[in-house]
Amino acid sequence: MSNISKEEILKLVKEISLDKDESIFSSDLIEDIVIKEGHVQISIFATKDNFQILEKVGKKIEKTLKKSINALSITSVLTNHIESNQVDQKDDQVDQKDDNESLKKVKNIIAIASGKGGVGKSTLAVNIAYSFLKQNFKVGLLDADIHGPSIPHMLNLEGKPELNENRKIIPFDYKGIKVISIGFLLNEDQPVIWRGPMVHSAIKQMAQDTDWGNLDILIVDMPPGTGDAQITVSQNLPLNGAIVISTPQSVALNDAKKAIGMFEKVDVKILGIVENMSYFILPDGSKEDIFGKDGGKNLAKELKVNFIGSIPLDKEIRLNSDLGDPSKLEEKYFDEIVNSFLKNSKLKI
Ligand SMILES: Nc1ncnc2c1ncn2[C@@H]1O[C@H](COP(=O)(O)OP(=O)(O)OP(=O)(O)O)[C@@H](O)[C@H]1O
Ligand SMILES: [Mg+2]
Repeated sequence: MSNISKEEILKLVKEISLDKDESIFSSDLIEDIVIKEGHVQISIFATKDNFQILEKVGKKIEKTLKKSINALSITSVLTNHIESNQVDQKDDQVDQKDDNESLKKVKNIIAIASGKGGVGKSTLAVNIAYSFLKQNFKVGLLDADIHGPSIPHMLNLEGKPELNENRKIIPFDYKGIKVISIGFLLNEDQPVIWRGPMVHSAIKQMAQDTDWGNLDILIVDMPPGTGDAQITVSQNLPLNGAIVISTPQSVALNDAKKAIGMFEKVDVKILGIVENMSYFILPDGSKEDIFGKDGGKNLAKELKVNFIGSIPLDKEIRLNSDLGDPSKLEEKYFDEIVNSFLKNSKLKI
């Protein structure tokens, strides 16, 4: 396997005989062939009109190649970022200054990020958005989690957003918070793999093509990790900085450290660390540090960043996420986080 080349794979692909209804495929539609450590990935450019046929073609390519070459795995993926980029370019040409127009009236943009998944980014994003709203801030929420958008569920919002007369997306409204999520724009069964460039244009479009109006603060719920989405957000949105959230275990803290390192590399300021699931309140009111103690605080100290505060593991928090209505959450944890954040941050208000 080690010396099989892209050219050879392409040659084999060209020889594959197709059924009549698959004949729209041509080898020009092969966008990339990546061979890495014995694994082969073939990207095929698809549009919404031909992805069903190309999905079938992709399977056929996989099957045929498996017979001819000795690879650990052969996978075909459909991509369509070219289409999105073209839309971007067209918009750029129509109205250059339009690009950041929507964001011009947004005074502050803050990303909520973590290195590790499932540590509570979306929970924090939604609940602090509501806490800011209670303090009379004009708030927006952008769900940049292209792979697993959870904001629609957490705010019980569904449907497709409409466009206004200037062809800007009208955001959804949760009690006054302006909300946009890729979840509103995707078809649930959309098979397209959201690879780098696609992630890039989807996030850019959501940020720039939404009619945010005047906002004091736009909160961006990031996907986990240190990949394309993080880079895109940091390079395309005028961020004040990022709040990094972690649980107290050392694995999570290590990932948080990586995320902080990545943001610093791309010149995004770290506005502070929030520790989530810090402790558990026992029925008698005492605290139990199930995941260790002060991990987030110590990391903040080590990296010389602001420690914003901690949030306990609390059943009410989870129940309210599932209920889709953060306004029902009676606990004050997120108000305290917002107050602590406001004390140390220099928001432009
Ligand atoms: N402090 C908490 N107490 C109880 N449950 C919590 C707490 N924080 C988050 N959860 C629950 O943990 C789960 C994961 O939280 P959430 O979806 O906010 O994480 P995430 O970091 O956004 O995940 P992903 O990386 O998948 O985007 C959710 O079910 C949420 O309700
Ligand atoms: Mg999330």
